[in-house]
Order: sequence, then C-alpha cells, then structure tokens
Amino acid sequence: MTPAARTQAAIELLDAIIIAAREGGAAADTLIARYFATRRYAGSKDRRAVRELVYAAIRRLGERPANGRAAMLTLADEDPILATTFDGSPHGPAPIGDEPRAAPGLHPAWLEAALAASGLDAVEQAALIERAPLDVRINRLRADPPALPDAQPVPGLPDAWRLPAGADVSRWAGVVEVQDAGSQAVTLAARVEPGMTVLDLCAGAGGKTLALAAMMRNEGRIVASDVDRARLSRLLPRAAQAEVGIVETRLLDPRREAAALGDVQADVVLVDAPCSGTGTWRRNPEARWRLDPARLERFAATQRDVLTIGAGCVRPGGALVYIVCSLLDAEGPAQVDAFLTAHPGWRVEMPALPLGRARGQGMRLTPAHDATDGFFVARLIAAC
Ligand SMILES: C[S@@+](CC[C@H](N)C(=O)[O-])C[C@H]1O[C@@H](n2cnc3c(N)ncnc32)[C@H](O)[C@@H]1O
Repeated sequence: MTPAARTQAAIELLDAIIIAAREGGAAADTLIARYFATRRYAGSKDRRAVRELVYAAIRRLGERPANGRAAMLTLADEDPILATTFDGSPHGPAPIGDEPRAAPGLHPAWLEAALAASGLDAVEQAALIERAPLDVRINRLRADPPALPDAQPVPGLPDAWRLPAGADVSRWAGVVEVQDAGSQAVTLAARVEPGMTVLDLCAGAGGKTLALAAMMRNEGRIVASDVDRARLSRLLPRAAQAEVGIVETRLLDPRREAAALGDVQADVVLVDAPCSGTGTWRRNPEARWRLDPARLERFAATQRDVLTIGAGCVRPGGALVYIVCSLLDAEGPAQVDAFLTAHPGWRVEMPALPLGRARGQGMRLTPAHDATDGFFVARLIAAC
C-alpha cells in the first residue's frame, strides 16, 4: 500500500469505529481485524502502519469526532509528512481543503470533569490513554515458568511478568495467563486460602477465577457465575488448560441471580462488577467515546444490584470483595459508602496490597502511579 492508501484506510476504519462507538457496535480491535480480513493485499507492515495511525487519532481526540477524515486531518495538521499523503491519488484521500477538523483533547469534557472530581490530575488523566505493556501471570499449578523473552518481573507480585506490548504468549496457554498486574494485585484483596468456599459472582471468562484457584492451590471450591453465556462458556476450557479442578460454573438469569445462588454461603464473595472501564482505556481508548452519563448511571445501578446479591451469599464473618476497573468515584468509593449505609452490621477492612493508594474506604491503582490498569478494590466484612 502507498502511504496515501494507508491514510485512506485509517480514515475508513475511523469512520467505522466512530459509528460503532455511537451505536454500541464492535470494539476498534475487532473492526480493524475485520477490515483487513477482506483486504489481502495489505501486508503485515501495512496493517501495523494503519493500526498505528488509527490509534494515534483515537488517543489524540478526546471528544468523539464527526468522521474519520476530520480525525485524520487533525493529525495531519500536526504532522507535515502525514499531510503530504492527502494527495488525491487513486487510493489516497482528497487534498486538504478548508474543512472541519476534530478538536484535540484528552477525554470528553464531562469525563474530564468527573475524573478531576475523582482526584485525577492532568498527568493521571493523560496516563489513562498511554500505551499499555502486556502483563502475564505465571500459573504455579502447572510446570515451572518458561523463560519469557524480554520479560521483566513486576515488583511486589511474584507471579507477574511484564512483556512488550503485542508479545505473543499463545504457545504457553495454561501456564502463562494474560492478566494485567493491577488485576492480579486487586485479586490479592480476596485473601483466599486453600479449602475455602469462594463465589466469583461476575466471573466472565474467568481471569480472576483462575488467579483465585492458584492462590487456593487448587483446594476448596469456587462457584463462578455470570449472566453472559458466551463469556462464562470460555471459563471451564481455560480452567482445564490451567489444571484447575475446583471450579463449577453457574449461568445466571438476570434479575433471578439470588435464587440461583441461594445455596451458596461463601467465605469470600468476589464481585468484579461491570463498569465504565475507565481504568482500561489504555487498551481500548475509543471506549471513552462510548460512555455518556446515562450509561454511567446504568453501570452504577448494576453495581448496587450485584453488591446486594453478593452480600446475600457471604457467610457470617465472611468477606465481600468489590472490584471495578474504573477510577470514577461514582463506581468505587461512593458504591462502598452506599453499601455500608444500606447494610448495617458490615464493616470495611482496608486491603493490604503491594500497589495502590487509599481512596475512600478502599484502595485504588492508577496507570500513572502504579504502571498498571486502573482499579478500585474494597473489602467488606459481614457481621458474625
Ligand atoms: C468486569 S467483567 C468480569 C471480568 C472477570 N471477572 C475477569 O476477571 O476476567 C464483569 C462481568 O459481570 C457480568 N455481569 C453483569 N451483570 C451481572 C449480574 N447481574 N450478575 C452476574 N454477573 C453479571 C458481565 O457479564 C461481565 O462478564
């Protein structure tokens, strides 16, 4: 592909990403993979170059742009070499005219205000969309860890290694699990031990379930539940590959979760709640174009619900561990405060973690402070 054709491809991809962000379609990575699946003429260097252009535009623009051309024109105004690719050639974009540009910025204005109110200054906010490395967790239930090329240990987390972004670890499936170091750190707040009964209420495809099983040395019982059939169906094959044998899955009907979990009296209930994902924007920065105040309020309502459902499954004196990969106070500290008001008799126990800082009645990890994805975690203890 010519440089001009790469710019045109980035414009077309950004058009698709902008529409998907507005209408709830697929993630940028999925759209990029689909785009190239039908364009075999694009070699690996072309794909990498187009992808970099697309993500450079996404990172540069806080507000969702009107279209892909307006987005790429903003980049071209800052990059004279890129500007020359608007050359009107057969596969390239039309020459630059007097036309609208997208406004550069970090995040949508309403989110910048909400992040600032949640204690994140400009440096913290900028780090939310910087490129992330690839973190993995070594599964001690399997063989000794392989020698991973270019891997660096993550201080404080004995099983966490950091690799360059894009490293391929698929050949070590089951031994090496892709899991952000922050996700590994907040899972430690569960303080699970061999022999315990644990409920992972929002287990998804089991990233934290497998980490819990390793901490329990594969002894005890983990009930892993979720309302999403597709995600949950990936959990048991992953558990088998990781040689985890203590997990049973339960697919939940929305609004009937409590009945399906009526028999569970767990030592620890982990609630890794659905959230805005502000802490994981490093990996999908276009997600900040998807969020609006109404969607944020829906997440907050679901978080209140799953906390209440989870609390009903904790044995007397047991622990309810609340996690979100969000840095907005509305999804973290405020949820904990509201829970404690609505559930007299429960108390907070501050988690002791190798990373993070206190925020409200929990701990918070941020990309700028901890070099991990962003998380909030709180540990709530039921009355005896
Ligand atoms: C943050 S993700 C979980 C990620 C997972 N724990 C991991 O570590 O990979 C939140 C999950 O909550 C699930 N969820 C949403 N509403 C739920 C509900 N009412 N009950 C249980 N799970 C729910 C979603 O389907 C999603 O898989």
